[in-house]
Amino acid sequence: MTAQASLLTTKIKQFMQAAGDWLPFDRFMALALYAPSLGYYSASQQQIGRMPASGSDFVTAPEMSSYFGTSLARSVKEALVQTHTHAVLEFGAGNGTLALQLLSALGEQVQSYTIVEVSAALRERQAQTLAAFAAQVRWVSVLPDSIQAVVLGNEVLDAMPVRLLQRTAGVWYERGVVWTEAESCFDWQDRPTDDCPPVEIAGEYDYLTEIHPQAESFVRSVGERLQRGAIFLIDYGFPEAEYYHEQRHMGTLMCHQAHLSDSDPLQDVGRKDITAHINFTGVALAAREVGLEVLGYTSQAHFLINSGLLGLLENASMQDKAMAQKLMLEHEMGELFKVIALGRGEIWQPLGFVQGDRTHRL
Ligand SMILES: C[S@@+](CC[C@H](N)C(=O)[O-])C[C@H]1O[C@@H](n2cnc3c(N)ncnc32)[C@H](O)[C@@H]1O
Repeated sequence: MTAQASLLTTKIKQFMQAAGDWLPFDRFMALALYAPSLGYYSASQQQIGRMPASGSDFVTAPEMSSYFGTSLARSVKEALVQTHTHAVLEFGAGNGTLALQLLSALGEQVQSYTIVEVSAALRERQAQTLAAFAAQVRWVSVLPDSIQAVVLGNEVLDAMPVRLLQRTAGVWYERGVVWTEAESCFDWQDRPTDDCPPVEIAGEYDYLTEIHPQAESFVRSVGERLQRGAIFLIDYGFPEAEYYHEQRHMGTLMCHQAHLSDSDPLQDVGRKDITAHINFTGVALAAREVGLEVLGYTSQAHFLINSGLLGLLENASMQDKAMAQKLMLEHEMGELFKVIALGRGEIWQPLGFVQGDRTHRL
């Protein structure tokens, strides 16, 4: 175990002890990912990149192809014009790659580009990436009271801690984490709960799933502050009926390390990413609770094609075309990833949802 992993384990054990020797999984995940200086995203290791050789663990759409940002820029530009705003607010900007692509494409159309990033190490990396745009970019650590901007979050919701629910012999339990002294490792322990998934899951067989109170409260917090503008959230996930489908009985919790995935977040804590898919119906309901409307919901492939990606690729090199294809292909990022757009006030139909809008499926 590295020194960092050992310190993180000690920290989690301290929190666990203070909480009665059991941590609900969302608290464990929050510490594993975000404990200051020690958590996966807080340490200075490289998390996001195209290849394992860079030391990275997974790739995201803007890291895959700069055409992600250039086509998204068209939708962002439309939203800025439609909502009479001049600012972008990005959550969880990773290496700063999407911000760089958008600022390069939009230039002076964006008067200010604000980033909210929980990881100090990533904030530093973003500042390096965005050095050429220092006059436009700033970082804030708390949400502004009033937001007048186009708000973006790519793969941010999936990095928010989830609670785990386990149905055993027809009874729902909350799955948490304990420390087993004899084995010197973390282990699962289920405790009775009154909570259950938002839809009934047919059958009586054992079933593991997630609920997303933190991601939904994030949507409410941002939504209630949004005075003017629009919110675009891009992530992997499904509407509720697919998310809680009776066949998805192992849940969607997943870890990423060196571009390989596994399903054991209790091993190698702090050295790998932990994520869960998004229940987009929950996102839409949270947004509606604070008076927002869903402006559109569709697959990433539809959204990018509607935003003009194919035209932008006409003069691209073969290699650039091949990487951009991955953003759209059904078996790569095209279908599993979705885009949801939220807005307040006067409703308009964003370019990205002109064809293939699936809002009715939420
Ligand atoms: C999977 S990475 C995605 C990074 C980047 N958006 C990209 O596409 O490459 C998740 C990012 O979300 C950040 N994050 C997680 N929770 C956050 C929150 N509540 N507010 C702001 N950033 C958050 C993480 O620190 C990290 O930068």
